Amino acid sequence: MAPGMEIQKHIALKPFNTFGIEAEAAYMAEICTLQEAVNVITDKRYRGLPLLVLGGGSNILFTKDFDGLIIRNSLRGIETLRTEGDKIFVKAAAGETWNDLVDYCVARNYGGVENLSLIPGSVGAAPIQNIGAYGAELKDVFYSLEALETATGRVRTFYHGDCRFGYRESVFKHEAKGRYVILEVTLCLDINPVLKTGYGAIESELNRMQVEPSVQSISRAVCNIRRSKLPDPALLGNAGSFFKNPSVSKEIFHSLKAEYPGIVAYQNSDGSIKLAAGWLIEQCGWKGKVAGRVGVHKDQALVIVNFGGGTGKEIYALSEEILHSVKEKFGIDLEREVNVI
Ligand code: FAD
Ligand code: EPU
Repeated sequence: MAPGMEIQKHIALKPFNTFGIEAEAAYMAEICTLQEAVNVITDKRYRGLPLLVLGGGSNILFTKDFDGLIIRNSLRGIETLRTEGDKIFVKAAAGETWNDLVDYCVARNYGGVENLSLIPGSVGAAPIQNIGAYGAELKDVFYSLEALETATGRVRTFYHGDCRFGYRESVFKHEAKGRYVILEVTLCLDINPVLKTGYGAIESELNRMQVEPSVQSISRAVCNIRRSKLPDPALLGNAGSFFKNPSVSKEIFHSLKAEYPGIVAYQNSDGSIKLAAGWLIEQCGWKGKVAGRVGVHKDQALVIVNFGGGTGKEIYALSEEILHSVKEKFGIDLEREVNVI
C-alpha cells in the first residue's frame, strides 16, 4: 500500500448516500490519484472481496451492510484540452462534482451540458446511467473515458461506441458492471452552442425570467425548475427518480390510451412510446403515501423518500409494492433506476 494511504474499517455509510440510509462498509479507501487506485485494487489483503466505487451516492440504495471494499473516488481536475473546428474538448477527473463541470463549461460558453445542470453526483458516475434531463443526455456530448480494469490493473479507453449508451443505460450496467473504476471523462462541446429550449418548462421559465436563451440562461432556468420540482436530499433523503420511464409498443400504447385517455407519453425515435412512470404510479394512488419512515414524494410520484431513520429494506419493500400495483393496473413492468446493493 502507498505510504499515507489509509484503508478504514467498519465505516458508517449514512453520510455517503443521499437516501441517508444507515449501513456499514467493511472497508473504505479514498483514492486521490491513479496510483492510489492501482495500489488499492492490487492489494492482496482485499483481493476477492466485493468492490464498489462510490461517487456522491445519489443513485444508490443500501439494503444491507456492504461486506467488501468501497472505493471513494476523489480524483480531481478539470481542463480544456483542445479545439477542433467548432468543437472543444474538456476533460474532468471522475471525482469532480458533475455540476462543477457544468458550471465550468457554462462560464466559458461551451455548449452542450447546460440542460444537465444541477444533476447531483460525480463526473465518474455520469456515464454509468448516461445521465439525462430536460432534452439532453450525457451521450450527446460524451467523447471518451479512461477506466481502470480491476482484474488487471490496466487503464483502458472507452470511446462513444464502446459505452453502448441508451436511456439510463450503458455497458457499465451490463457486461462491464463492477469491472472498472472510471478515472476521467472527456466531453466534446460546441464553441457555437446549439440551444435546446423545447423540453418541458424551459421556455416558460426563460419567459418568466425575462431573458433571451443562452447557455447561461438555460442553465439558470433548468436549476430553477429542478429546485421547484425535486426534493433536496440535504433536507429529505431521496435518489431522484426511483424507476425508469418505461417504453411500450405503439399497439400497447393505443390500447392503454383508449382506457386511460389522460396517460402521459412521449414518442421515442425508434417509434416506441415512453410512458411517464410518475403518472402511472400516481394513478395507482401512491403519490404522497407515507409508509412509516419512508414514502412517496407528495409532488413527484417517481421519487421515493426517506423521512428519517428509514432503512434500505423499507424503501425496497415500498418499491416492490409500487411495482406490483403498476403491473396489476396497467400490465407494465417498471424497472428500478436506482442501483440496489
Ligand atoms: P453513485 O450513487 O455514487 O453511484 C452510482 C453508480 O455508479 C453505482 O453503481 C456506482 O458503483 C457507480 N459508480 C460511481 N462512480 C463510479 C466510477 N468512478 N467508476 C465506476 N463506477 C462508478 N439522474 C439523471 O440521470 N437525471 C436527473 O435529472 C437526475 N436527477 C436527480 C435528482 C436528485 C435529487 C437525485 C438525488 C438524483 C438524481 N439523479 C438524476 C440520479 C443521480 O444524480 C445520477 O445517477 C448520478 O450520475 C449519480 O452520481 P453519483 O456520483 O452520486 O453516483
Ligand atoms: N407526472 C405525474 N405525476 C407525478 C409525476 C409526474 O402525472 O407524480 C407526469 C406529469 O404529466 C409530468 C410527467 O409525468 O409532466 C413527467 O414528469 P417530470 O417532468 O417530473 O419528469 P419525469 O419523467 O418524472 C424525468 C427523469 C428525471 C429528469 C426529468 C427532466 C427519468 C426516470 N426521470 O423525470 O431524471 O430530471 O425527466 O428531464 O427519466 C432521475 O433520473 O433521477 C431524474 C430525476
